[in-house]
Amino acid sequence: MIYITGDTHGDYDFDKLLSLKEKNLSYDDYLIIAGDAAICWSKEELPHFLNLYNSIGCTILFIDGNHENFEMLNNMPLVEYKGALMHKIDEHIFHILRGEILTLEGKTFLCLGGAHSIDKAYRTPYVSWWPEEEITEHDIDNARCNLAKVNNKVDYVITHCCDTFTVMNVFRFRKDRSTDMLSFIDREVEYKHWYFGHYHFDRKIDKKRTCLYQDIVALDDKQPFEISENTLKTMDESMDNFDEGKVSKPIKLK
Ligand SMILES: [Fe+2]
Repeated sequence: MIYITGDTHGDYDFDKLLSLKEKNLSYDDYLIIAGDAAICWSKEELPHFLNLYNSIGCTILFIDGNHENFEMLNNMPLVEYKGALMHKIDEHIFHILRGEILTLEGKTFLCLGGAHSIDKAYRTPYVSWWPEEEITEHDIDNARCNLAKVNNKVDYVITHCCDTFTVMNVFRFRKDRSTDMLSFIDREVEYKHWYFGHYHFDRKIDKKRTCLYQDIVALDDKQPFEISENTLKTMDESMDNFDEGKVSKPIKLK
């Protein structure tokens, strides 16, 4: 089985994963963390975090968020695993590079980490904040290059932040360089569902996008949730308004 969840922040938000321990998982089961796993945060904490995450008993794959030690991550050995380039953090723990397409159980995942830290003014460069957090043109180029090999079609998209449309029109937050970078996905990529983290709440945005934090989604072939026709209509109208440069009323989601 493949599971997906949001930010875990080292041991800070780890407890939500305890429910997975009870499932007697094997390394043929996979947990994808949509950024801010922060397993690589400091050399001192790494052994503790590895013990903790290894205790779940499945293969762990994470994209980077904005709260990661990029110096540590980038010094991990580079490997190809399940069709994607990754940093091997431990025997069964991997960091997926931005723009890579992972294949698990016959399903494909466009993985594209990175995000902007709104709290960076309170953080110390190269101790608790790294400039590599932002999504770059190079990351998008890598994604486009890999997407071209699969006719721009994947089953799932996994990112840390989301695109500017969702940030501005659904959440009413400020857009930034990284959310702008992700705007190509809805224009260019055919996908079934997009999961992202970063915002520290769980919310089903529409029939194709879900924000994850504490929730753990088990991927099976069922529709992740049902959404009313009215909400879908409102979303479509809102998207049209956004494309025309107009701002819609906030979308009310259950
Ligand atoms: Fe976070």
